[in-house]
Amino acid sequence: MSESTTMSDAAARQALQADLARVYCRVHQPDDPPLFTREPNSTMVPLHWRWSELGPLLDRLGAEIAIGSGGQRRTLRLSNPGLPYGTTPTFWASIQVIQPGEVAEAHRHTASAFRFIMQGSGATTTVNGENYPMNEGDLVLTPPWAWHDHVHGGSQQMIWLDVLDISLVRSMHAVFFEPFTGATQPVDAVPDHSYRALGSGIMRPPRVGAPAPGFNPLLAYPADRALTALDLAAGLAPDPFDDVVLEYQNPVDGGPAMKVMSMKLLKLRAGFQGQARRQVGSKLYYVCKGQGTTVVAGRRFDWKAGDFFVVPPWCWHEHAMHAASGEAVLFQVDDTPAMDALGYYREQAAAAGTSLGHHKENA
Ligand SMILES: [Fe+2]
Repeated sequence: MSESTTMSDAAARQALQADLARVYCRVHQPDDPPLFTREPNSTMVPLHWRWSELGPLLDRLGAEIAIGSGGQRRTLRLSNPGLPYGTTPTFWASIQVIQPGEVAEAHRHTASAFRFIMQGSGATTTVNGENYPMNEGDLVLTPPWAWHDHVHGGSQQMIWLDVLDISLVRSMHAVFFEPFTGATQPVDAVPDHSYRALGSGIMRPPRVGAPAPGFNPLLAYPADRALTALDLAAGLAPDPFDDVVLEYQNPVDGGPAMKVMSMKLLKLRAGFQGQARRQVGSKLYYVCKGQGTTVVAGRRFDWKAGDFFVVPPWCWHEHAMHAASGEAVLFQVDDTPAMDALGYYREQAAAAGTSLGHHKENA
């Protein structure tokens, strides 16, 4: 196409615009950003939050900020500066602080959520009448539109990771929220029903199925069961990317525990050098124990226990463990189930043995 033809087409598009706008239509304008890019072009940025900086801020939050009433929470949100809101384009991760005797009052919302307990013990959560302990390393789920409240009956400040798929729900304009009529909801006669039925992970009452595809009736995944499973999996051949990795599963259909978010535990052993990979979707890691290095889009994150870091969509990343650093355990959340359900999932692995290189960590 000649330049003059291109120019006249551009002029025609601009000339059309005023008439089209009156009837709420438009055509692609020469200065519009392209609708299609060759590959994902995310504005989300790789980021590393250090426990050395988060810990004192969480103590201040616990001392200076009220927990609120009507279902409000006291949370420190991990905000990505490349996004209008949220930790990633799909979910928002927050750290909730709760003091002994406090109640995070009952409410429900369309966004699905989970809690992964970072520090402390003695709290319980009630989800649609089921009641579960919240102790370090436990994972508890809140399905969409499930009533939930948390009561801290212990003696020390507790913190846990709260992740909601609220960024996705907001982008779909599907946000609903409702406070409960009281501070807490009634607890069922068998308070831990789903765990008693399905929590073994290997057996269940005959003919118990999911009431709807992908629905997971199991609400609690205690730390001891998860870590036992991870130790068993350490006897398998190492995963080239994640060394030892297990996903929290829906015991009824064997799929991921939630429809939008996948939660995983990784054990990275001393000397492990992971293969580099990039995937659609976004990831957050929380370092449960140990220390190591992850290179994300050329940025080196030297992480320790308590740290968080994120991997934006379609960014090369790889894990590396020093020979003398001992083993590390990482909790991971990503949005692979949503990508799979929509048919959008894809990934690309670097050739084995090629490394992204370990650049100096940016401040
Ligand atoms: Fe909530």
